[in-house]
Amino acid sequence: MLKLLNVSKSYNKGSIKAVDNLTLEVQKGEIFGFLGPNGAGKTTTIKMITGLLENDSGSIAINDVDTKTSSIEAKKQFGFVPDSPHIYDRITGLEYLNFLGDIYGVAAVEREGTINELARLFELEDALRDIIQSYSHGMQQKLVIIGSLLHKPPFWVLDEPMVGLDPRSAHNLKQLMRAHCALGNSVFFSTHILEVAEKLCDQIGIIRKGQLIFSGTMDELRGEKQGRESLEQIFLELTE
Ligand SMILES: Nc1ncnc2c1ncn2[C@@H]1O[C@H](COP(=O)(O)OP(=O)(O)OP(=O)(O)O)[C@@H](O)[C@H]1O
Ligand SMILES: [Mg+2]
Repeated sequence: MLKLLNVSKSYNKGSIKAVDNLTLEVQKGEIFGFLGPNGAGKTTTIKMITGLLENDSGSIAINDVDTKTSSIEAKKQFGFVPDSPHIYDRITGLEYLNFLGDIYGVAAVEREGTINELARLFELEDALRDIIQSYSHGMQQKLVIIGSLLHKPPFWVLDEPMVGLDPRSAHNLKQLMRAHCALGNSVFFSTHILEVAEKLCDQIGIIRKGQLIFSGTMDELRGEKQGRESLEQIFLELTE
């Protein structure tokens, strides 16, 4: 579903190497958790996957579509929840969702079905007719989550999606990620919440100073430690 091959990205004319020769794959039906300390390169990687930044070198394919040579087609393959919900805030939640529905060419009936289902799940139904300016951080986050799924994308990319969500909403989001993968789709998300990564992910990648220092299952990560250590301890050791 996702293939990154030798992807690199520098900022400030090469003085900051944010992502360094990154190669990783996410298979169909998998949830991939992307971990790493602050400044490790997670958001930069996600911005390259989603086309917000251009990679300096290497290649990225989503659902076998190359993000550079077929950028529009590649964008149709994923839904994206960025790390902070910067959205037009002088329109209503419903107007925002319809705007996204128009961009992605989602038919009215289908759009309505998804909006109703997800707004109910996230208890956002009553707020949809209010302007976004009046939303709390968590409400905006939920709106962005709903918008990212309107076109039923095969690949779902989320950058620290649990931030600002209350426990019930975080629980619902995790269920939604699982359900998405059960349909043969895939999820790629970054998080600092190790417990979530441990319980939810099929695969885990750990990035440090732009380089992938581990990629595999939780069992594989533990195997090296004979199951003696928690993910927290392993993470602290690996990223020291
Ligand atoms: N626009 C930018 N200009 C210059 N340097 C940047 C820019 N964005 C990120 N960086 C640098 O690139 C590196 C990787 O940053 P990135 O935002 O990808 O990290 P991250 O893993 O998402 O961190 P966090 O966990 O804090 O979100 C850091 O050294 C950061 O300072
Ligand atoms: Mg980040």
